[in-house]
Amino acid sequence: MTTQLLDLARDIAHEAGELARRRRAEGVSIAGSKSTLADIVTEADREVEALIRERLAVARPDDGFLGEESDATAGTSGVTWIVDPIDGTVNYASGMPSYAVSIAAVRGSEQLAGVVHAPMLGETFVAAQGEGAYLEVDGAQTRLQVAAEHPAGALIATGFGYDPATHAGDIATVERVMPIARDVRRIGAASIDLGYVAAGRLDAYFERGLKPWDIAAGTLIVAEAGGAVLTLDGDAFGRKMTVAAHPVLARKIADLVEAE
Ligand code: IPD
Repeated sequence: MTTQLLDLARDIAHEAGELARRRRAEGVSIAGSKSTLADIVTEADREVEALIRERLAVARPDDGFLGEESDATAGTSGVTWIVDPIDGTVNYASGMPSYAVSIAAVRGSEQLAGVVHAPMLGETFVAAQGEGAYLEVDGAQTRLQVAAEHPAGALIATGFGYDPATHAGDIATVERVMPIARDVRRIGAASIDLGYVAAGRLDAYFERGLKPWDIAAGTLIVAEAGGAVLTLDGDAFGRKMTVAAHPVLARKIADLVEAE
């Protein structure tokens, strides 16, 4: 069953990615800001989510749906789809290629299938529960494995909250982790950060305040590539911290963060 869910998610993600790519080429209209200046939504985010929702409703009418841009619906099958139509909206709106369609199927706390499809990068990260994680490029699959537990200088990605009041805390966290880092990246799409951790391109990724649609697919992809995705207690703003890496490195980063 998980393979069928993955096949469906992959097909829909490719169609959705093509729509996002086409709309971007036609020009982007920013539909509004959600919470702060950085928290934007484009017309394409809404249109792509509507497409994904419609395709899922036809294929699996009894499933629930939780998406970034529309109201959640509970299903009766026990399976829920968690969808970010365009993860990395700021990159998308600015004409940068690091954005992705993220689609996950879950049953309660069980992760069944996940797809992170980056149309402009030509890369699709996929996983089905118990079946491993793969990178797909032009139909060819490569099995993914997270990087070593003790890299000599880790390449670590992070992200910053949209609320300016949280920036000082986020920067202080980066400073804590810096001593074990070779360098730090801010890619701008959590789902791609997680795909890169699964592929061993990044040693680790951490960020506070992520939403289920940012990480649902990527979390399974990291786990199936032998990694761990830890959730740490909230900060003064109630934002929980997500840390993804090889399990040993994830714990090391969690210890540095928790020493705050
Ligand atoms: C955002 C991106 C970004 C991360 C934010 C997310 P969106 O998702 O993943 O990298 O820093 O926390 O909200 O808004 O572009 O779908």
